[in-house]
Amino acid sequence: MSRESLPWVEKYRPSSLDDVYGQGEIVSVLHKFIQENRLPHLLFYGPPGTGKTSTIVALAREIYGKNYSHMVLELNASDDRGIDVVRNQIKEFASTRQIFSRGFKLVILDEADAMTNAAQNALRRIIEKYTKNTRFCILANYSHKLTPALQSRCTRFRFQPLPEDAIKRRIANVLVHEHLRVSEDAVQALIKLSKGDMRRVLNVLQASKATLGDDESDEVSTDTIYECCGAARPADLRKILKSILEEDWNTAYYTLHKIRQEQGLALIDLIEGIMEILDQYELQHEQTRINLCMKLADLEYAISKGGDSKIQSSALIGVVKTCFENEVLEAQPA
Ligand SMILES: Nc1ncnc2c1ncn2[C@@H]1O[C@H](COP(=O)(O)OP(=O)(O)OP(=O)(O)O)[C@@H](O)[C@H]1O
Ligand SMILES: [Mg+2]
Repeated sequence: MSRESLPWVEKYRPSSLDDVYGQGEIVSVLHKFIQENRLPHLLFYGPPGTGKTSTIVALAREIYGKNYSHMVLELNASDDRGIDVVRNQIKEFASTRQIFSRGFKLVILDEADAMTNAAQNALRRIIEKYTKNTRFCILANYSHKLTPALQSRCTRFRFQPLPEDAIKRRIANVLVHEHLRVSEDAVQALIKLSKGDMRRVLNVLQASKATLGDDESDEVSTDTIYECCGAARPADLRKILKSILEEDWNTAYYTLHKIRQEQGLALIDLIEGIMEILDQYELQHEQTRINLCMKLADLEYAISKGGDSKIQSSALIGVVKTCFENEVLEAQPA
């Protein structure tokens, strides 16, 4: 497949450590390890789309160059990773002789938090046994899902959600490559909605490009970004809130339902959006905010457990209405 036809998350995967944005400290420590030829076992953990897989692959490419395929074993969650598979594959890989280059081999265990505890326990012996000529890099979203014994064998690096300026620089870069025009507001909205997940940014950008016609002067608008993210637009959220607070129950329900249908919004995204808008409200009683947060959290939980969306949207209106009963609204943002 040509590079042009790749999904953007692959097309724009960092090819070297210097291409990894927003993880400066980690990258500089890794550079140091390479220079001193002293790579410890590594543990990368953090939220999705922050560059864990990309960073270790880039690191391996820098160390091994064209010998990559002989020197690196990548195992991910989609592979069968029972104890025996792990043991055998790693054993076979680590114990074959290195013809092409000297130095250690690298085993990348991607999505290791999906491994069973038994498999993780088997790993600790394996790690110790092959430390002489093999380094392990364990990648996970949650470090608490890894057994402590495994954690203590590795040098830990936490990948933060990408900072806004790093995402902004990366977007600018991609836009130039793709001859894509995105309005300033839309870029800002995308940065906010992505919450530091670069994979999400790239997917949304690619989807939004597909909405444009052939005219090169067309620009991606803020609305398109919200649509591609499946997120509610702030204007719609304010409209819903206003209706809940100022109109009777039936009208509020109708407004909410209509906007949800028109925009194809999930109730859970709506609740998240409403939470954010409410953050900007100045409330007279702190208790109002506390009640709201607790009750919205309950609602969110109920929906995630499969609660009926009609009942839950009624509950949403009820929650907001009752919480605001004693509250005189002041200084609402426009
Ligand atoms: N720090 C970054 N700098 C530049 N691009 C990035 C960065 N992080 C992620 N990306 C982009 O997002 C895509 C996904 O990144 P990657 O696979 O490295 O994420 P991950 O941290 O391993 O996520 P997951 O936890 O879901 O496996 C990459 O192909 C790359 O294009
Ligand atoms: Mg990954």
